[in-house]
Amino acid sequence: MPEEQKKFYITTPIYYVNDKPHIGHAYTTIAADVLARLHRQLGDDTWFLTGTDEHGAKIEAAAKKAGKNPQEFVDEVSAKYSLTWDQLGIAPDDFIRTTEDRHKKSVAIFLNNLKNSGKVYGGDYEGLYCVGHEAFIKESDLVDGVCPEHKTKPEKIKEKNWFFKLSDYQNILKEKIEKDEILIQPNTRKNEVLSFINQGLEDIAISRPNVKWGIPIPWDIDQTTYVWVEALFNYCSAVGYGIDQEKFQKYWPADLHMMGKEIIKFHCIIWPALLLAIEIEPPKRVFANGFFTVAGQKISKTIGNVIDPNDWVAKYGADAVRYFLLREVPFGEDGDVSEEKLKSRYNSDLANGLGNLFSRITNMVEKFLDGDVELTKSPRDLSEVSEAFYNLDFSHGLEVAWETVAWADGLIDKAKPWELHKTEPKKVKELLINLVAVLSELALKLSPIMPDAANKIREALEQEKITKPSAPLFPKID
Ligand code: MSP
Repeated sequence: MPEEQKKFYITTPIYYVNDKPHIGHAYTTIAADVLARLHRQLGDDTWFLTGTDEHGAKIEAAAKKAGKNPQEFVDEVSAKYSLTWDQLGIAPDDFIRTTEDRHKKSVAIFLNNLKNSGKVYGGDYEGLYCVGHEAFIKESDLVDGVCPEHKTKPEKIKEKNWFFKLSDYQNILKEKIEKDEILIQPNTRKNEVLSFINQGLEDIAISRPNVKWGIPIPWDIDQTTYVWVEALFNYCSAVGYGIDQEKFQKYWPADLHMMGKEIIKFHCIIWPALLLAIEIEPPKRVFANGFFTVAGQKISKTIGNVIDPNDWVAKYGADAVRYFLLREVPFGEDGDVSEEKLKSRYNSDLANGLGNLFSRITNMVEKFLDGDVELTKSPRDLSEVSEAFYNLDFSHGLEVAWETVAWADGLIDKAKPWELHKTEPKKVKELLINLVAVLSELALKLSPIMPDAANKIREALEQEKITKPSAPLFPKID
């Protein structure tokens, strides 16, 4: 890991407010929060942005269905997002909403600059629009006449649009991605983007004449901006593009855009091309996580398996949910989660693992040393844990950390301090000093993932006199 202080600007997708957040949305946001916390710990000037995507046909329809006016509706759902993040211990530096004035103003400046670049032209468009995707889809992508993902029939659209010359960017994008100037990870996603580019890029419509709920095109106010175009721009508007130049210069380009694998084409093709057109540096890195299924099935309202992260937090606590999601599935791969799996990991890894180790150690320190231990350097090197987190290999980092939990438990079982202290009190003292140091180091390394528990452990160990805490760190759940 680099030593010098740097700036680190990290983002999540801005989430659609057609419905409240589920664990899939929480996944990417927790991972970004962990990285932000790690970079703050390393002393980097960190800026962590998340937010909500509030315009477009999909949101307009959801508001209508709820019988609310769009603004009232998006205010409510957006608040659910920020509240949920709070419950999960997610602490962004900024939360952008695309219905905010700061975003609308910045987008208008951006669109004018885009127009002035000469890469925008008017034309007619005929195609199939999937509202679920908020994108045009190809006839060949349909299965039995419906979008295979949203199970809805796309709208046949024939309209006048403003277009962006995406096709002009084929070679330059290819070069930047191949050279990792725009680093796309995992590598399979990079290959996917490159092969898509190699099939040839078509120009894209950047306006919609028949969608009212959106940001007007500054030079043609009868049209609104295509929702993906303005949504992508949140990464710039939030740090002050066109409005607070100093802040923008400080944080742009984004160091890391985090997202799910389904939206990499928007982020790795359209987004950098738009930026290149207005002569702004593209983002440095994009990392795509895989998709969760719940007990083997796609997360869907129709199936009825949508998990509200707040329910899990209420039962198991935020730290446990954060731990579970990042431990269960290697980051970047698809994987399956369920409450059964959460409960089983909670009991084995947290209640019987880390939590039990903490109470064992503090208990013995209280009993055999009257709470007196000096905090020393850990005899076990745990740098691999932070290095793994730094490289977004969360599950590996946690595995390594839990090897240390098992190691410490093993030391205690072997030494049997409850017997040894009668004959060799010095040895017991030495052992406990080492265990306290390891536990404290472990808590420090784990704090980006489980900030609350880490804090409790460190506070307990830093006390003048260590006493066994009155309540277990992770009470066992039956
Ligand atoms: N609004 C767009 C993004 C615009 S960004 C400029 C959007 N929103 S979304 O609400 O649909 O959120 C998509 C993101 O949520 C995914 O990219 C991913 O980060 C997360 N996930 C949603 N469902 C998920 C799973 N089932 N599994 C893992 N992540 C998932 O797309």
